[in-house]
Parts: sequence; C-alpha cells; structure tokens
Amino acid sequence: MAGAGLEDIVAGETSISTIDGKRGVLTYRGISIHEMADHSSFEETVFLLWYGRLPKAAELDDFRNALSRETVMEDRVAAWLKSLPAEANPMSLLRTGVSLLGLADPEEGASVTPEPWKEGFRYMGQLTSGAPGFGRDHPQSRKAIRLLGRMTTLVPAIQRVMKGQPFVEPKAGRSVAFNFLRCLTGKDPEEGSEKIFDKCLILHADHEFNASTFTARVAAATLSDLHSSVVAAIGALKGPLHGGANTEVMRMLLEVKEPSKAKAWVKDALERKRKIMGFGHRMYKTEDPRATHLRRMSESLCAKVGQPQWYEMSRLIEEAMWELKAIKPNVDFYSASTYYCMGIDPEMFTPIFALSRLSGWTAHIFEQQANNRLIRPVGEWVGPQEAHWEPMEKR
Ligand code: SDX
Repeated sequence: MAGAGLEDIVAGETSISTIDGKRGVLTYRGISIHEMADHSSFEETVFLLWYGRLPKAAELDDFRNALSRETVMEDRVAAWLKSLPAEANPMSLLRTGVSLLGLADPEEGASVTPEPWKEGFRYMGQLTSGAPGFGRDHPQSRKAIRLLGRMTTLVPAIQRVMKGQPFVEPKAGRSVAFNFLRCLTGKDPEEGSEKIFDKCLILHADHEFNASTFTARVAAATLSDLHSSVVAAIGALKGPLHGGANTEVMRMLLEVKEPSKAKAWVKDALERKRKIMGFGHRMYKTEDPRATHLRRMSESLCAKVGQPQWYEMSRLIEEAMWELKAIKPNVDFYSASTYYCMGIDPEMFTPIFALSRLSGWTAHIFEQQANNRLIRPVGEWVGPQEAHWEPMEKR
C-alpha cells in the first residue's frame, strides 16, 4: 500500500516544476528558483509556467498588458462581493469570489479540451514549437488570463469587504504586484515594495504536485471547468497544514511577542505536541530554497521598517527547531514576517499565496487536460470482511 498521505508515490508526469528534496532544489520548467527569483518578474514566471518558455520582449509586454486589462472587475461581481458577510474567513470569501467570477465569465462552460495544433503550440498568433496545448486563442487560456487579472483585485477587495472599505480601482498597464498593493492599501506602492512583493509572487507560483495543485488536477481530470478546479484548489490551500500555515506563523510570532521568549515558547509547544507552523515539509529534507530568499527579505524589511524583533524572533525559533527537532523552515515561515513588515494583515497571507499559486494551478490544469485520463486511485479495504443488514428489533 502507498505510504500514508501518498508519500513518495508518483501520481503522474509533469514538466512544469520539479523538486529535489534531498538537495533543496526547485526549478520552474528546468530553471532554478534562485535564477527566477533574482532575475525574473511574476508576469514572466506565469508566461513560463503556462506556455513552457520565456517570452520575448514584445510577448511579455503584451502578456503584462493583457493581465492588467483583466484586473477591472465587473460591477455586478463587485456588488455580489459587497453582499458577502464581512466576518467570514478570508479564504472562504476568496473561494466564493472565484465562484462568482466563474458565474460572470462568458466562457465558463467553454470546451476544456485542447485543439491539437497541427503547427505546434500557438501563442498570440505566433507559432512556436512544442506540445499541443492551450494557445492564447483558446478559451482555457483566455479564462486563465481573465481569472489571474481579476484575482489581482479580488484578493484586496476581500480585505476591503472585511473592513467595510470601498474598493480601489487598479491602474492600467501596471504589474500584478503594483495593482495588488494599490488596491489593498489605497495608495500606489513605492518601487521597493512592488519589487519585494513581485519576488514573493515568483517564489510561491508553483511547487509540483502539492496538495492544492493535485486537487486542481483531480478536478480538471474530470473535464470540469477552470473555475471549479481552482475553487477546489483554494479549499485545499486553506488548510493550516498547507497554505494556511503562513497566517498561523504570524499569530505565533504575535503570541511570543519578544525574542527573549522565543526559545522557551518553542520548547513548551513541542512538549505539548504542537506542530510549529512554517516548519517541516513532505519533500524537503534540507532547506526549502524559497525560505533562503524569504529569510533575506524578512531581515532587510524588518530592519527597514524599524521592527527587527519579528526577524530576530524568527531566527531564534528557527535555531530552536533545528536544535530540538532538526526540522527546517518552509516557504511559510519567513513569508509571514516579510508580509507583516509590508503592512499586510496576517489574515491576508493565505489569499496572497492563492493569488500567486493560481498561476501554477492553471498551468497544471492545462497540462492535465492536454493529455488527460481521469484520476481515480484505489482504496485498500480495511473494513469488515462480511456484514449483513439487520432488522431494527435485532440491533
Ligand atoms: C506548504 O507540498 C508542498 O509543496 C506544500 C508547499 C507548496 O509550496 O505548495 O510547500 C506549501 O504547504 C508548506 C507546509 C506548510 N505547513 C506547515 O508549515 C504546517 C506545519 N508542518 C507540518 O504539519 C508538516 O511538516 C507538514 C504537513 C508540512 C509535512 O508533514 P509530513 O510530511 O506528513 O510529516 P509528518 O507530519 O508525518 O511529520 C514527521 C515528523 C513527526 O514527528 P514524529 O511524530 O514522527 O515524532 O516530524 C514532526 C512530526 O511530529 N514534524 C513536526 C513538524 N513537522 C513535522 N513537529 C513539529 N512541528 C512541525 N512543523
């Protein structure tokens, strides 16, 4: 029987991203996450994940503008969002928001099977070689661009709903990172914040067959529609063992309050058999390469905004977890203090994870449906060998 939780079970082939857990390596389409984090942009990363290659300059401009045009939310969707309960869980609001976007999408029910491009993989009218799939002029690709554009303003709108604040209009021609921060805070972000947030989006974009991505693939493999597969993935990401961990990390730091209490807090929590959020990983047996970048960003940002305690506490907790459990931080640990020092509320950390991971989920939906077979594993029977129905008087 498979390992509990399908540990180490190969559930399919993919060429989108891959992880070497022993060496702490993550690549997007074969390109190291370190090179992507240091040199790329989120829009370029999305293009790479979706279309399998880095864009040329004109293609990247067109793609960035296409995404930016789609950030404008329909009035009726905005009205539906404003009717949602302000006290609801932000990931529940996001899950509902994507369902509402599906209802408003003119192609929600369009074909999900790829046209077999005779001339190879088509993007924006230019022909490129590659496997048949979803070129820009395919409903799936158009829906993915619309959904990623809308999510850029939907995620901030959720915080505005929760705080009873009016929605902020995005600015045309600007990046996903720029418009997300503008619509969240009501102010245009300074360039430094836009760059840091853009790097966070790159780091969270894809991660092979993680729980929410595999959920999206299972739904997509039934030939269900894009929005339904994404809603399923959001439900999986919401859990504290997965994407929900980053919010819990910040709640832990706020509970610890100061660096001098950090190590004792961890020791006590472990003695009470509590899982320390932001640590451990099913795949990584060494440092999560994304944590390397987020640790650096946390250190510089916490110092820059005059709140070094969040980084100092994080370092002490990291040392305690290594000393006591030999467990390393994952992507969620340092993203918490990074986002917090950007002035972002902890309850928005997981919806931000979803904004970035939407690019990976959609790439995997494309890949699954381009060469599909229904995903249906077998359960090992551990119930009674024989049982019979009994009339009520005999029970
Ligand atoms: C993400 O899959 C992905 O790629 C996910 C992700 C992505 O980009 O999509 O990387 C994003 O979800 C990162 C993980 C975020 N979750 C958390 O930070 C929650 C805390 N972490 C743990 O719950 C745990 O580490 C998991 C869920 C992440 C991994 O769990 P596994 O592989 O099932 O490991 P396990 O729970 O069986 O733990 C193995 C041992 C146990 O010790 P023993 O009971 O055998 O003595 O390690 C211990 C665990 O108790 N352990 C921890 C721990 N993580 C593992 N002990 C304390 N705190 C922890 N965080």
